Formats: sequence, structure tokens, C-alpha cells
Amino acid sequence: MSEKEMLNAYKARLETYLDALPMTGAPDKLREAMRYSLLNGGKRLRGCLLLAANDLGGGDAEAALPFAAALEMIHAYSLIHDDLPAMDNDTLRRGKPTNHVVYGEALAILAGDALLTHAVEVMASSGHPQAFAALGEIIRAAGVGGMLAGQTLDVMNEGAEPDIALVQEIHQGKTAALLTAPVTAGLILAGAEKALVEAGRSYGYHLGMAFQIVDDLLDLEGDPALMGKTLGKDVEEGKLTWPACVGVAQARRDAEAHINQGVEALAPFGEKAAFLRALALSTLHRVQ
Ligand code: IPE
Ligand code: IPE
Ligand code: MG
Ligand code: MG
Ligand code: MG
Repeated sequence: MSEKEMLNAYKARLETYLDALPMTGAPDKLREAMRYSLLNGGKRLRGCLLLAANDLGGGDAEAALPFAAALEMIHAYSLIHDDLPAMDNDTLRRGKPTNHVVYGEALAILAGDALLTHAVEVMASSGHPQAFAALGEIIRAAGVGGMLAGQTLDVMNEGAEPDIALVQEIHQGKTAALLTAPVTAGLILAGAEKALVEAGRSYGYHLGMAFQIVDDLLDLEGDPALMGKTLGKDVEEGKLTWPACVGVAQARRDAEAHINQGVEALAPFGEKAAFLRALALSTLHRVQ
């Protein structure tokens, strides 16, 4: 199977699982708002990374699905809240009106909260022998020292002077944390030894940093139709971005350097890591 075919197979498996989530007890409108943002496309990078890392460690593929789904739920929640008027004030996501545009702010906030808590519920109910460790890894990444730290610094520093150390902290938190957790949690689920989990952590960090630097570049020069979101917003909102600090050409070189370091971190896995290697390299040239 080619890397592309593997990615599509992971995606298809994950989509089926997400679509079948019962969300038991949710009022119809809440379920509808949750599903609107959970099942509206998206690259599924975080969920697929977890499935791939679990495979790399030789884990049971079926048993890893609740954790891959949880990552996509947490990611969807972060996007719903990121798009709110009080945050990035965006009206388009994945080519469709944002959650709050369709359901109103109150339900969008609740749908975000619900996706986060449901992610924990699904992981806690999985019965996986490594559930507690994997859940901890994922929730720490989403939490006060991870995604929430990055998002806080992001919104607090709109209009601030370019400061690369601060942008490094923002990007590490808001994006790299949730791209690292799938790799470490996937390896933990598979029972991989500590040194391999740490190699995965380094890979995920560099992949995540490159992913957000490229997101910043795409906001400047991407194709809005492919991106499915309103571009040019970072400059408009005075966001601290990587290219705002170092310029476009250097930002591209920095993204490349991160990908090279991420690929190097995979060395202990040898040839078995071909999929993760290809995924990292494709991030540099992504158009969506
Ligand atoms: C968007 O993430 C938010 C960032 C961290 C840049 P993705 O680009 O992975 O969004 P989807 O899930 O594919 O829509
Ligand atoms: C968002 O970063 C990161 C999270 C949602 C955690 P951005 O604000 O740059 O993402 P986009 O550009 O809206 O997708
Ligand atoms: Mg944002
Ligand atoms: Mg945003
Ligand atoms: Mg962005």
C-alpha cells in the first residue's frame, strides 16, 4: 500500500467510527451541533497519526479507535472555540459556515464543551489496558500547559511586536501539543518502550511546529477554496505569526528544518516509520 492509500484507509476507518458515535443522552440540537463540526471533512491528521503510531508500535488497531476519535473531537472543539467572535471571529471553516454562524454562540460554546468532555468519556469507557496513560497524555496536551496555553498567548498578544520566542511558545502550545499527543499516545497504547515514546514525542513536536508555520504561510499565500477558511486574517487581526517575525522565505526554511529534525527523530524505528516520514514531508507542500 502506498502512503496515500494508507492515509485514506486510516481516514475511512476513523470516519466510520466517528459517524457511529452514539453521543448518548445529548439533546438533539446539541448532537446536531457536535456532529456538524465533527463530521464536516477535515484532514483527520491527528486521528490518523494516532492510528499510525499505534500500528508502528504493533498495537491493536481496533482498540486504538476511541483515542483517535477523541483527538478529532478535541480538535473539533478547539476549532469551534477558535472561530468564535471573541477569539478569531471566523465565519468559514472547512468550506462551510462556522458552528456559531449556524447554531448561535451559546450552542457553539456548548458543542465545543461537549466534544471535549465526550472525548474524555469515550477514552475512559474504552476498556483499553493503557487507557489511563494515553488519556493523560492527550488531556495534558489539550490542557493548561498545552493547547490552552498557546491559545491564551495567541489571543492575548494580538497586535504585539514580533517576538520569535513568544511565537515559538504560541505554536508549540496551540498546535504542536495536539500533533504530538497522537504519536505518544498511539505508542503508549501499543505498549512501546519509553525511549520510543520519546522519539515519537520529538517527531510530533517538530511536525507540529512545521504544521503551524505552514498554516501561517498558507494564511498569507494559500488558495482560499482549498483551505476552506478566510485567509489573510492573521494580518488583519494582528496575530503573532512565524512569517511576521522572520519573513516568508525564512519561515519556509524553518518549517523545512523542523521537518528534517522530525524525520531524524524517527531513526530508532527504522524502515517501519516510512508512513510517518512521508506524512511529515508532505506537510511542507500541503495546500489545505
Ligand atoms: C487547523 O488544523 C488548526 C491549526 C492547528 C492550524 P487543521 O489544518 O488540521 O484542520 P482540519 O482538521 O484539516 O480542518
Ligand atoms: C488554531 O490556530 C489552533 C487551534 C484551534 C488550537 P489558528 O487560529 O491559526 O487556526 P486557523 O487558521 O483558524 O485554522
Ligand atoms: Mg486562532
Ligand atoms: Mg483561527
Ligand atoms: Mg491559522
